[in-house]
Amino acid sequence: MSSISPAAPTTDATLLTGDSFIRPHLRELAPYQPILPFEVLSARLGRKPQDIVKLDANENPYGPPPEVMEALGKMEFPYVYPDPESRRLRAALAEDSGLDATYLLAGCGADELIDLIMRCVLDPGDKIVDCPPTFTMYEFDACVNGATVIKVPRLSGFGLDVSGIIEVVKKENPKCIFLTSPNNPDGSIINDDDLLEILRLPILVVLDEAYIEFSGKESRMAWVKKHENLIVLRTFSKRAGLAGLRVGYGAFPLSIVGYFWRAKQPYNVSVAAEVAACAALKNPTYLQKVKDALLAEKERLYLLLKEVAFLKPYPSYSNFILCAVTHGKDAKKLKEDLSQMGVMIRHYNNKELKDNKRKKDIFTAAADYLQIELKVKTRKNNACNHKNEF
Ligand SMILES: Cc1ncc(COP(=O)(O)O)c(C=O)c1O
Repeated sequence: MSSISPAAPTTDATLLTGDSFIRPHLRELAPYQPILPFEVLSARLGRKPQDIVKLDANENPYGPPPEVMEALGKMEFPYVYPDPESRRLRAALAEDSGLDATYLLAGCGADELIDLIMRCVLDPGDKIVDCPPTFTMYEFDACVNGATVIKVPRLSGFGLDVSGIIEVVKKENPKCIFLTSPNNPDGSIINDDDLLEILRLPILVVLDEAYIEFSGKESRMAWVKKHENLIVLRTFSKRAGLAGLRVGYGAFPLSIVGYFWRAKQPYNVSVAAEVAACAALKNPTYLQKVKDALLAEKERLYLLLKEVAFLKPYPSYSNFILCAVTHGKDAKKLKEDLSQMGVMIRHYNNKELKDNKRKKDIFTAAADYLQIELKVKTRKNNACNHKNEF
Protein backbone atom coordinates (compact mmCIF):
# COMPACT_ATOMS: atom_id res chain seq x y z
CA MET A 1 0.00 0.00 0.00
CA SER A 2 1.21 3.52 -0.74
CA SER A 3 2.76 5.53 2.05
CA ILE A 4 1.18 8.63 0.51
CA SER A 5 -2.17 9.55 2.00
CA PRO A 6 -4.87 9.84 -0.66
CA ALA A 7 -5.81 13.15 0.88
CA ALA A 8 -2.29 14.57 0.72
CA PRO A 9 -2.36 17.27 -1.96
CA THR A 10 0.62 17.30 -4.28
CA THR A 11 1.42 19.09 -7.49
CA ASP A 12 4.08 16.56 -8.44
CA ALA A 13 2.69 13.47 -10.20
CA THR A 14 5.98 11.61 -9.73
CA LEU A 15 5.28 11.52 -5.99
CA LEU A 16 2.05 9.58 -6.52
CA THR A 17 1.67 5.85 -6.71
CA GLY A 18 -1.27 4.32 -8.55
CA ASP A 19 -2.99 3.08 -5.43
CA SER A 20 -3.27 6.61 -4.08
CA PHE A 21 -6.15 7.06 -6.54
CA ILE A 22 -8.14 4.19 -5.06
CA ARG A 23 -11.09 5.13 -2.86
CA PRO A 24 -10.04 4.78 0.78
CA HIS A 25 -12.68 2.22 1.78
CA LEU A 26 -11.56 -0.09 -1.04
CA ARG A 27 -7.99 -0.09 0.21
CA GLU A 28 -9.17 -2.10 3.20
CA LEU A 29 -11.35 -4.50 1.22
CA ALA A 30 -10.52 -8.19 1.45
CA PRO A 31 -10.83 -9.76 -2.02
CA TYR A 32 -13.77 -12.08 -2.70
CA GLN A 33 -12.64 -15.72 -2.57
CA PRO A 34 -13.83 -17.21 -5.85
CA ILE A 35 -13.38 -20.87 -6.73
CA LEU A 36 -10.47 -21.80 -9.03
CA PRO A 37 -11.06 -21.79 -12.81
CA PHE A 38 -11.58 -25.33 -14.10
CA GLU A 39 -8.40 -25.35 -16.22
CA VAL A 40 -6.26 -24.10 -13.33
CA LEU A 41 -7.79 -26.69 -11.03
CA SER A 42 -7.20 -29.38 -13.60
CA ALA A 43 -3.52 -28.44 -13.96
CA ARG A 44 -3.07 -28.18 -10.21
CA LEU A 45 -4.60 -31.60 -9.54
CA GLY A 46 -2.94 -33.19 -12.57
CA ARG A 47 -6.36 -34.43 -13.71
CA LYS A 48 -8.36 -33.80 -16.85
CA PRO A 49 -11.43 -31.61 -16.22
CA GLN A 50 -13.54 -34.67 -17.13
CA ASP A 51 -11.97 -36.52 -14.21
CA ILE A 52 -12.90 -33.90 -11.63
CA VAL A 53 -16.12 -34.19 -9.65
CA LYS A 54 -16.85 -30.54 -9.12
CA LEU A 55 -19.13 -30.00 -6.15
CA ASP A 56 -17.77 -26.74 -4.76
CA ALA A 57 -19.81 -24.00 -6.41
CA ASN A 58 -23.37 -25.40 -6.51
CA GLU A 59 -23.35 -25.55 -10.29
CA ASN A 60 -25.60 -27.92 -12.21
CA PRO A 61 -23.46 -30.82 -13.48
CA TYR A 62 -26.03 -31.83 -16.10
CA GLY A 63 -25.47 -28.62 -18.02
CA PRO A 64 -28.07 -26.93 -20.20
CA PRO A 65 -30.58 -28.58 -22.57
CA PRO A 66 -29.10 -29.61 -25.98
CA GLU A 67 -31.05 -26.76 -27.64
CA VAL A 68 -28.64 -24.33 -25.98
CA MET A 69 -25.52 -25.57 -27.74
CA GLU A 70 -27.43 -25.72 -31.02
CA ALA A 71 -28.68 -22.15 -30.62
CA LEU A 72 -25.20 -20.91 -29.69
CA GLY A 73 -23.75 -22.59 -32.78
CA LYS A 74 -26.31 -20.84 -34.96
CA MET A 75 -25.90 -17.40 -33.34
CA GLU A 76 -26.30 -14.90 -36.15
CA PHE A 77 -25.05 -11.53 -34.94
CA PRO A 78 -22.35 -11.92 -32.28
CA TYR A 79 -20.61 -8.87 -33.74
CA VAL A 80 -23.56 -6.61 -32.96
CA TYR A 81 -24.14 -5.31 -29.44
CA PRO A 82 -26.92 -7.10 -27.58
CA ASP A 83 -30.40 -5.76 -26.92
CA PRO A 84 -29.99 -3.48 -23.87
CA GLU A 85 -33.52 -4.42 -22.80
CA SER A 86 -33.08 -8.19 -23.30
CA ARG A 87 -36.56 -8.17 -24.87
CA ARG A 88 -36.57 -11.75 -26.14
CA LEU A 89 -35.37 -13.09 -22.85
CA ARG A 90 -37.79 -11.03 -20.79
CA ALA A 91 -40.69 -12.13 -22.98
CA ALA A 92 -39.66 -15.76 -22.47
CA LEU A 93 -39.28 -15.16 -18.74
CA ALA A 94 -42.71 -13.53 -18.61
CA GLU A 95 -44.15 -16.71 -20.04
CA ASP A 96 -42.08 -18.84 -17.68
CA SER A 97 -42.98 -16.87 -14.54
CA GLY A 98 -46.47 -15.61 -15.34
CA LEU A 99 -45.32 -12.10 -14.48
CA ASP A 100 -45.52 -9.32 -17.05
CA ALA A 101 -42.15 -8.45 -18.66
CA THR A 102 -42.40 -4.89 -17.32
CA TYR A 103 -41.58 -6.24 -13.85
CA LEU A 104 -38.48 -8.06 -15.12
CA LEU A 105 -34.89 -7.02 -15.61
CA ALA A 106 -32.07 -9.38 -16.62
CA GLY A 107 -28.43 -9.18 -15.66
CA CYS A 108 -25.01 -10.71 -15.96
CA GLY A 109 -25.87 -13.27 -13.31
CA ALA A 110 -27.80 -12.57 -10.13
CA ASP A 111 -24.44 -11.29 -8.89
CA GLU A 112 -24.66 -8.26 -11.16
CA LEU A 113 -28.16 -7.49 -9.93
CA ILE A 114 -27.06 -7.63 -6.28
CA ASP A 115 -24.39 -5.04 -7.04
CA LEU A 116 -26.78 -2.96 -9.18
CA ILE A 117 -29.34 -2.83 -6.38
CA MET A 118 -26.70 -1.63 -3.95
CA ARG A 119 -25.39 0.97 -6.40
CA CYS A 120 -28.91 2.35 -6.86
CA VAL A 121 -30.00 2.23 -3.23
CA LEU A 122 -27.02 2.88 -1.01
CA ASP A 123 -25.23 6.10 -0.25
CA PRO A 124 -21.78 5.66 1.31
CA GLY A 125 -22.30 5.04 5.01
CA ASP A 126 -25.81 3.56 4.56
CA LYS A 127 -26.47 0.28 6.29
CA ILE A 128 -27.62 -3.11 5.06
CA VAL A 129 -28.79 -6.09 7.12
CA ASP A 130 -27.11 -9.41 6.41
CA CYS A 131 -28.15 -12.71 8.04
CA PRO A 132 -25.11 -14.98 8.14
CA PRO A 133 -24.22 -17.68 7.51
CA THR A 134 -25.37 -16.83 4.02
CA PHE A 135 -24.12 -15.98 0.53
CA THR A 136 -21.07 -13.80 1.11
CA MET A 137 -21.56 -11.60 -1.97
CA TYR A 138 -24.03 -9.39 -0.04
CA GLU A 139 -21.38 -8.41 2.46
CA PHE A 140 -18.72 -8.11 -0.22
CA ASP A 141 -20.81 -5.86 -2.51
CA ALA A 142 -21.94 -3.75 0.44
CA CYS A 143 -18.29 -3.12 1.31
CA VAL A 144 -17.45 -2.27 -2.32
CA ASN A 145 -20.34 0.21 -2.27
CA GLY A 146 -19.13 1.84 0.93
CA ALA A 147 -22.04 0.57 3.05
CA THR A 148 -21.97 -0.70 6.61
CA VAL A 149 -23.07 -4.29 7.17
CA ILE A 150 -25.18 -5.03 10.24
CA LYS A 151 -25.22 -8.74 10.93
CA VAL A 152 -28.18 -10.51 12.46
CA PRO A 153 -26.93 -14.11 12.64
CA ARG A 154 -29.33 -16.93 11.97
CA LEU A 155 -30.74 -19.00 14.84
CA SER A 156 -30.23 -22.67 15.43
CA GLY A 157 -31.39 -24.66 12.45
CA PHE A 158 -30.47 -21.59 10.38
CA GLY A 159 -33.88 -19.89 10.74
CA LEU A 160 -34.00 -16.10 10.57
CA ASP A 161 -33.86 -14.19 13.84
CA VAL A 162 -36.91 -12.10 12.96
CA SER A 163 -37.12 -10.26 16.28
CA GLY A 164 -33.40 -9.48 16.01
CA ILE A 165 -34.04 -8.08 12.52
CA ILE A 166 -36.98 -5.96 13.75
CA GLU A 167 -34.88 -4.58 16.58
CA VAL A 168 -31.96 -3.71 14.31
CA VAL A 169 -34.25 -2.01 11.78
CA LYS A 170 -35.74 0.15 14.54
CA LYS A 171 -32.39 1.03 16.07
CA GLU A 172 -30.10 1.36 13.06
CA ASN A 173 -32.43 2.45 10.27
CA PRO A 174 -30.79 0.28 7.56
CA LYS A 175 -31.79 0.77 3.91
CA CYS A 176 -32.11 -2.86 2.84
CA ILE A 177 -31.93 -6.46 3.90
CA PHE A 178 -30.70 -9.43 1.87
CA LEU A 179 -32.55 -12.70 2.43
CA THR A 180 -31.89 -16.01 0.74
CA SER A 181 -34.40 -18.81 0.26
CA PRO A 182 -33.15 -21.52 0.01
CA ASN A 183 -30.18 -20.19 1.91
CA ASN A 184 -26.60 -20.88 0.84
CA PRO A 185 -24.77 -22.67 2.59
CA ASP A 186 -27.37 -24.68 4.55
CA GLY A 187 -30.38 -24.97 2.21
CA SER A 188 -33.04 -23.76 4.68
CA ILE A 189 -36.06 -21.78 3.44
CA ILE A 190 -37.91 -18.73 4.73
CA ASN A 191 -41.56 -19.24 5.61
CA ASP A 192 -44.34 -16.86 4.56
CA ASP A 193 -44.98 -15.54 8.08
CA ASP A 194 -41.36 -14.52 8.63
CA LEU A 195 -41.12 -12.94 5.21
CA LEU A 196 -44.37 -11.01 5.65
CA GLU A 197 -43.26 -9.75 9.06
CA ILE A 198 -40.02 -8.46 7.57
CA LEU A 199 -41.88 -6.94 4.61
CA ARG A 200 -43.89 -4.83 7.06
CA LEU A 201 -40.68 -3.07 8.10
CA PRO A 202 -39.60 0.17 6.39
CA ILE A 203 -36.74 -1.52 4.55
CA LEU A 204 -36.10 -2.77 1.02
CA VAL A 205 -36.17 -6.57 1.08
CA VAL A 206 -34.06 -8.36 -1.54
CA LEU A 207 -35.07 -12.00 -1.66
CA ASP A 208 -32.49 -14.15 -3.43
CA GLU A 209 -34.10 -17.25 -4.93
CA ALA A 210 -31.08 -18.62 -6.77
CA TYR A 211 -32.01 -22.19 -5.72
CA ILE A 212 -35.81 -21.92 -5.55
CA GLU A 213 -36.38 -24.55 -8.27
CA PHE A 214 -34.97 -27.26 -5.97
CA SER A 215 -37.14 -26.33 -3.00
CA GLY A 216 -40.51 -27.60 -4.17
CA LYS A 217 -41.86 -24.16 -3.18
CA GLU A 218 -43.38 -21.43 -5.34
CA SER A 219 -41.22 -18.47 -6.23
CA ARG A 220 -42.30 -15.22 -4.59
CA MET A 221 -41.68 -13.24 -7.80
CA ALA A 222 -45.37 -12.34 -8.08
CA TRP A 223 -45.26 -10.79 -4.61
CA VAL A 224 -43.52 -7.73 -6.07
CA LYS A 225 -46.93 -6.68 -7.41
CA LYS A 226 -48.20 -6.31 -3.84
CA HIS A 227 -45.08 -5.30 -1.96
CA GLU A 228 -43.41 -2.05 -2.97
CA ASN A 229 -40.35 -2.93 -0.87
CA LEU A 230 -39.62 -6.36 -2.36
CA ILE A 231 -37.19 -7.44 -5.07
CA VAL A 232 -36.84 -11.12 -5.99
CA LEU A 233 -33.71 -12.43 -7.72
CA ARG A 234 -33.39 -15.60 -9.79
CA THR A 235 -30.70 -17.14 -11.98
CA PHE A 236 -30.12 -19.52 -14.90
CA SER A 237 -26.86 -20.69 -13.28
CA LYS A 238 -28.47 -23.47 -11.26
CA ARG A 239 -31.82 -24.27 -12.84
CA ALA A 240 -30.50 -24.36 -16.41
CA GLY A 241 -26.80 -25.21 -15.98
CA LEU A 242 -25.69 -21.87 -17.43
CA ALA A 243 -23.36 -20.59 -14.70
CA GLY A 244 -20.61 -19.99 -17.27
CA LEU A 245 -22.79 -17.80 -19.47
CA ARG A 246 -23.90 -15.49 -16.65
CA VAL A 247 -27.62 -14.88 -16.83
CA GLY A 248 -29.68 -13.77 -13.86
CA TYR A 249 -32.96 -11.90 -13.58
CA GLY A 250 -35.08 -10.15 -11.06
CA ALA A 251 -38.69 -9.16 -10.42
CA PHE A 252 -39.05 -5.55 -9.27
CA PRO A 253 -41.98 -3.34 -8.25
CA LEU A 254 -42.84 -1.03 -11.15
CA SER A 255 -42.12 2.04 -9.03
CA ILE A 256 -38.48 0.93 -8.65
CA VAL A 257 -37.56 -0.87 -11.83
CA GLY A 258 -37.15 2.24 -13.98
CA TYR A 259 -34.23 3.44 -11.90
CA PHE A 260 -32.44 0.13 -12.35
CA TRP A 261 -32.89 0.44 -16.12
CA ARG A 262 -31.24 3.86 -15.97
CA ALA A 263 -28.29 2.74 -13.86
CA LYS A 264 -27.44 -0.64 -15.38
CA GLN A 265 -24.69 -1.18 -17.92
CA PRO A 266 -26.45 -0.99 -21.31
CA TYR A 267 -25.11 -4.29 -22.66
CA ASN A 268 -25.10 -6.30 -19.46
CA VAL A 269 -26.61 -9.48 -20.97
CA SER A 270 -24.47 -10.69 -23.86
CA VAL A 271 -25.87 -11.98 -27.15
CA ALA A 272 -24.67 -15.49 -26.23
CA ALA A 273 -26.23 -15.30 -22.77
CA GLU A 274 -29.61 -14.23 -24.11
CA VAL A 275 -29.60 -16.83 -26.89
CA ALA A 276 -28.67 -19.57 -24.40
CA ALA A 277 -31.23 -18.60 -21.77
CA CYS A 278 -34.06 -18.39 -24.33
CA ALA A 279 -33.10 -21.78 -25.75
CA ALA A 280 -33.01 -23.30 -22.24
CA LEU A 281 -36.55 -22.08 -21.52
CA LYS A 282 -37.73 -23.79 -24.69
CA ASN A 283 -37.13 -27.19 -23.11
CA PRO A 284 -38.97 -27.19 -19.77
CA THR A 285 -39.14 -30.99 -19.86
CA TYR A 286 -35.34 -31.20 -19.72
CA LEU A 287 -35.17 -28.62 -16.91
CA GLN A 288 -37.72 -30.62 -14.95
CA LYS A 289 -35.88 -33.93 -15.50
CA VAL A 290 -32.58 -32.43 -14.38
CA LYS A 291 -34.23 -31.00 -11.29
CA ASP A 292 -35.81 -34.36 -10.47
CA ALA A 293 -32.47 -36.13 -10.94
CA LEU A 294 -30.66 -33.65 -8.69
CA LEU A 295 -33.29 -33.99 -5.99
CA ALA A 296 -33.20 -37.79 -6.15
CA GLU A 297 -29.40 -37.72 -5.85
CA LYS A 298 -29.63 -35.29 -2.97
CA GLU A 299 -31.85 -37.72 -1.07
CA ARG A 300 -29.50 -40.59 -1.83
CA LEU A 301 -26.43 -38.62 -0.82
CA TYR A 302 -28.08 -37.30 2.35
CA LEU A 303 -28.83 -40.83 3.53
CA LEU A 304 -25.28 -41.93 2.73
CA LEU A 305 -23.77 -38.95 4.55
CA LYS A 306 -25.90 -39.71 7.59
CA GLU A 307 -24.21 -43.07 7.79
CA VAL A 308 -20.75 -41.49 8.08
CA ALA A 309 -19.88 -41.41 11.79
CA PHE A 310 -18.08 -38.06 11.69
CA LEU A 311 -20.56 -36.16 9.50
CA LYS A 312 -23.81 -34.52 10.43
CA PRO A 313 -25.65 -33.48 7.26
CA TYR A 314 -28.40 -30.87 7.52
CA PRO A 315 -31.68 -31.20 5.64
CA SER A 316 -31.58 -29.01 2.55
CA TYR A 317 -34.19 -27.57 0.18
CA SER A 318 -31.48 -26.96 -2.37
CA ASN A 319 -29.01 -28.80 -4.62
CA PHE A 320 -26.32 -28.98 -1.92
CA ILE A 321 -25.91 -30.38 1.56
CA LEU A 322 -24.09 -28.77 4.45
CA CYS A 323 -22.37 -31.12 6.89
CA ALA A 324 -20.94 -30.51 10.32
CA VAL A 325 -17.72 -32.43 10.80
CA THR A 326 -17.75 -34.12 14.18
CA HIS A 327 -15.70 -36.46 16.36
CA GLY A 328 -12.59 -34.29 16.15
CA LYS A 329 -12.15 -34.89 12.39
CA ASP A 330 -10.40 -32.07 10.59
CA ALA A 331 -12.80 -30.67 7.96
CA LYS A 332 -10.05 -28.85 6.08
CA LYS A 333 -8.01 -32.01 5.76
CA LEU A 334 -11.10 -33.90 4.60
CA LYS A 335 -11.59 -31.32 1.88
CA GLU A 336 -7.93 -31.54 0.88
CA ASP A 337 -7.94 -35.35 0.83
CA LEU A 338 -11.06 -35.34 -1.35
CA SER A 339 -9.51 -32.83 -3.75
CA GLN A 340 -6.53 -35.18 -4.17
CA MET A 341 -9.10 -37.76 -5.27
CA GLY A 342 -10.54 -35.25 -7.75
CA VAL A 343 -13.64 -34.46 -5.68
CA MET A 344 -14.02 -30.74 -5.01
CA ILE A 345 -16.09 -29.59 -2.05
CA ARG A 346 -16.16 -26.33 -0.10
CA HIS A 347 -14.89 -25.87 3.38
CA TYR A 348 -16.36 -23.31 5.79
CA ASN A 349 -14.97 -22.24 9.08
CA ASN A 350 -16.56 -18.84 9.28
CA LYS A 351 -17.48 -17.23 12.51
CA GLU A 352 -21.24 -17.45 12.16
CA LEU A 353 -21.23 -21.22 11.82
CA LYS A 354 -19.15 -21.36 14.98
CA ASP A 355 -21.41 -18.85 16.74
CA ASN A 356 -24.27 -21.28 16.43
CA LYS A 357 -22.43 -23.54 18.83
CA ARG A 358 -22.38 -20.88 21.50
CA LYS A 359 -26.15 -20.71 21.41
CA LYS A 360 -26.17 -24.32 22.54
CA ASP A 361 -28.19 -25.38 19.56
CA ILE A 362 -28.05 -28.37 17.26
CA PHE A 363 -24.38 -27.84 16.59
CA THR A 364 -23.49 -28.89 20.13
CA ALA A 365 -23.29 -32.39 18.73
CA ALA A 366 -20.31 -31.33 16.67
CA ALA A 367 -16.90 -31.83 18.20
CA ASP A 368 -15.38 -29.72 15.46
CA TYR A 369 -17.13 -26.68 14.02
CA LEU A 370 -15.71 -26.72 10.56
CA GLN A 371 -18.31 -27.26 7.91
CA ILE A 372 -18.18 -28.75 4.49
CA GLU A 373 -20.68 -28.21 1.77
CA LEU A 374 -21.38 -31.03 -0.61
CA LYS A 375 -23.21 -30.45 -3.77
CA VAL A 376 -25.10 -33.35 -5.17
CA LYS A 377 -22.97 -35.79 -7.06
CA THR A 378 -24.81 -37.58 -9.78
CA ARG A 379 -24.70 -41.16 -10.96
CA LYS A 380 -21.53 -41.20 -13.03
CA ASN A 381 -18.21 -40.48 -11.48
CA ASN A 382 -17.81 -37.30 -13.42
CA ALA A 383 -19.29 -33.86 -13.00
CA CYS A 384 -18.94 -33.04 -16.71
CA ASN A 385 -20.42 -36.19 -18.06
CA HIS A 386 -24.08 -35.70 -17.43
CA LYS A 387 -24.85 -33.28 -20.21
CA ASN A 388 -26.19 -35.89 -22.58
CA GLU A 389 -28.10 -37.99 -20.11
CA PHE A 390 -31.54 -36.72 -21.04
C1 LIG B 1 -27.54 -17.45 -2.99
C2 LIG B 1 -26.88 -17.14 -4.29
N1 LIG B 1 -27.28 -16.07 -4.98
C3 LIG B 1 -26.72 -15.75 -6.16
C4 LIG B 1 -25.69 -16.52 -6.67
C5 LIG B 1 -25.04 -16.09 -7.95
O1 LIG B 1 -25.86 -16.36 -9.03
P1 LIG B 1 -25.35 -16.02 -10.51
O2 LIG B 1 -24.53 -17.16 -10.98
O3 LIG B 1 -26.60 -15.84 -11.28
O4 LIG B 1 -24.55 -14.74 -10.41
C6 LIG B 1 -25.24 -17.65 -5.98
C7 LIG B 1 -24.13 -18.45 -6.53
O5 LIG B 1 -23.69 -19.42 -6.02
C8 LIG B 1 -25.84 -17.96 -4.75
O6 LIG B 1 -25.43 -19.00 -4.04
